[in-house]
Amino acid sequence: MPTDRQSSNDPITPPSLYFNRRGILNAGIALGSVAATASAYRWFNPVTNVNHNAGTVVATNDAEESEEQRLAKGWLVREDKTAEKYILNYNNFYEFTTQKEAVAAAAANFKTEGWEIVVDGLVSKPATLTIEDLHNISEPQERVYRMRCVEAWSMVIPWVGVPLSHVLEAVEPTSNAKYVAFETLLDPERMPGQRTRALEWPYVEGLRLDEAMNPLTLLATGIYGKSMPPQDGAPVRLVTPWKYGFKGIKSIVRITLVAEEPPTSWNRFAPHEYGFYANVNPAVDHPRWSQATEQRIGESGRRKTLLFNGYGDQVADLYQGMDLRKFY
Ligand code: MTE
Repeated sequence: MPTDRQSSNDPITPPSLYFNRRGILNAGIALGSVAATASAYRWFNPVTNVNHNAGTVVATNDAEESEEQRLAKGWLVREDKTAEKYILNYNNFYEFTTQKEAVAAAAANFKTEGWEIVVDGLVSKPATLTIEDLHNISEPQERVYRMRCVEAWSMVIPWVGVPLSHVLEAVEPTSNAKYVAFETLLDPERMPGQRTRALEWPYVEGLRLDEAMNPLTLLATGIYGKSMPPQDGAPVRLVTPWKYGFKGIKSIVRITLVAEEPPTSWNRFAPHEYGFYANVNPAVDHPRWSQATEQRIGESGRRKTLLFNGYGDQVADLYQGMDLRKFY
């Protein structure tokens, strides 16, 4: 998307504009950065809350592991978790609608019974896995991660899921496998947004194999101990907390090991704005807005954005010697 175009298709409305627009709608509120923050606050007390009452996903974290150990691995952050109502009511999921505040209602009846994920490509043991299979490969663990959207807002989300590395080990990648490609369900009946041209369908994403094997990388099947809500990517989505949120592909049906860098939806849509790597980086601005700070949902004021979203100890090695401006 050209930098001078601000369309309703843009996932990525700068929050300052978005919240200012809300501020204008809430008549009587002064404009400016302070007002933008205030109106953000007001907005995040949604008028309609869609609750999620689905099944539970019980996390069985290693009882021997101390909080300090979990903090050191990046599996926990010492920051307040974002309230569930925000996680469930402010979403990007173009297969349903491009309106963040309308995703929860639009996706509410999305049925995922009998879901299967094909894991294939350059592997010795291709497999078709149910969610139960995933949980049998590796017991679900809780991971409390920061989530930083490229739009400069952030949350702290208690995911439940299975390390992707355990699933990949089970299918045995061959020596030619260098990347992992992910694909969302293609079904315009169940995902009415796919009848529009908001994006090229199906939504696709990718990681380098070493990124996919990093212990932080999660196939999440739940949030706050409940099975994944439709609006957040039921029944299974990717979570890579050191990357911008758009890498977190939802409702995955295929994971394919490949030799070349696979296409990714937002890069295909606007290559000069959204890169393959999409590592959180306060020093590399988006063409239309700064990435230096962020609005933590539920907080007032702004936080400084951290390189790799604060997960440098866990992932900086993956990018040794790479120019992070070029490989954005
Ligand atoms: N996955 C699919 N299939 N379709 C989408 O539109 N949006 C992405 C990502 N995964 C998207 C997707 C974007 S832009 C973001 S910021 C996150 O999902 C939002 O996740 P959340 O709604 O759970 O916060």
